[in-house]
Amino acid sequence: MSETFAARAAALDAADQLADLRKLFTLDDTVYLDGNSLGALPAHVPARVQEVLTREWGELRIRSWDESGWWTAPERIGDRIAPLVGAAAGQIVVGDSTSVNVFKAVVAASRLAPEGRDEILVDATTFPTDGYIAASAARMTGHRLVPVAPAEVPDALGPRTAAVLLNHVDYRTGRLHDLPGLTAAVHAAGGLAVWDLCHSAGALPVGLDAHGVDLAVGCTYKYLNGGPGSPAYLYVAERHQAAFDSPLPGWTSHADPFGMTPGYAPADGAVRGRVGTPDILSMLALEASLDVWNGVSIEAVRAKSLALTDFFLECVAEHVPEGRVTSVTPAAHAERGSQVALRCEDAEPVMSALIARGVVGDLRRPDVLRFGFTPLYVGFADVERAARVLGEVLKP
Ligand SMILES: Cc1ncc(COP(=O)(O)O)c(C=O)c1O
Repeated sequence: MSETFAARAAALDAADQLADLRKLFTLDDTVYLDGNSLGALPAHVPARVQEVLTREWGELRIRSWDESGWWTAPERIGDRIAPLVGAAAGQIVVGDSTSVNVFKAVVAASRLAPEGRDEILVDATTFPTDGYIAASAARMTGHRLVPVAPAEVPDALGPRTAAVLLNHVDYRTGRLHDLPGLTAAVHAAGGLAVWDLCHSAGALPVGLDAHGVDLAVGCTYKYLNGGPGSPAYLYVAERHQAAFDSPLPGWTSHADPFGMTPGYAPADGAVRGRVGTPDILSMLALEASLDVWNGVSIEAVRAKSLALTDFFLECVAEHVPEGRVTSVTPAAHAERGSQVALRCEDAEPVMSALIARGVVGDLRRPDVLRFGFTPLYVGFADVERAARVLGEVLKP
């Protein structure tokens, strides 16, 4: 029976139009299913970082802010990310962490909201940093924070709603939330929708412009493979840019940063979302890593992602003894991101055993085994092997 699965994996890999992209990454014999935490290294990035260090910093020094395009990197790289999340150019700026961008976006959204609205809704199942920061933002701006599960958001909206912060894909379960529907519901109530795209950007189409999202943030070290701690990004829809009032109006977001005037005057466009001096080494590593997307369509990535997760669930059902794991990831494609989360009583030792056998996923305590599928470099044979090894680990 498992030979049938191995043969199917081989056939699926042979037919996979994206299979060759794996060669662009530095990978080994490990089945790497943790790209939803830290993406793999694109093989050409070290040489580019070396060039930045030796030529741009080592030889050109200060001249590189201008001559090597350092100064404009945040908005230039934002424009490289834009097509991957369905945004026209000029609306995304790269810099700071996701946490910091959540702060900017939530405070700015509350300032953009109609006068008198005093509630900020936050996804009650959110990755913790968003909840902590939304709570602080609410306290600072005099709003009441209302934690609500995404499915209950439509019922919780009302004339008091200023802004709603939601995750596109739940980091724990892999559930994909209805970005178009929830954004429309928030708008119908007169509020602003802020989306955290950490677990969707680079794995599936987002359609920020098409669905009228107001503000969005995301990290670049997961499916965008930017490297550990690579800078995050902030999307400000063009229609909001003129009124976007950053709570962190640092000098690099000034209309005339080198004028060094005591008074603040914001720059036009997405640049308004900048804060301080950009972290050039990380940023340029990210810029180089985005080259792997040249000629790759996000729709093709999504189709492969769904095929990988479908096949994984099938292989798990085949290899894993009945009752040992339960998928908490929705079966419906419309509700599934690019990961599969399996509830397993002894998840911690099970994940350690998997890693020891060359299958790298991760753990969300107390009992969730998380497997992320990065379509650019994960193949169907990897999927079959991961499920087979999981079955071996879980056999009594
Ligand atoms: C959904 C989500 N939001 C926010 C963060 C935090 O991002 P950062 O540590 O870059 O601020 C993460 C990190 O994994 C995340 O998964």
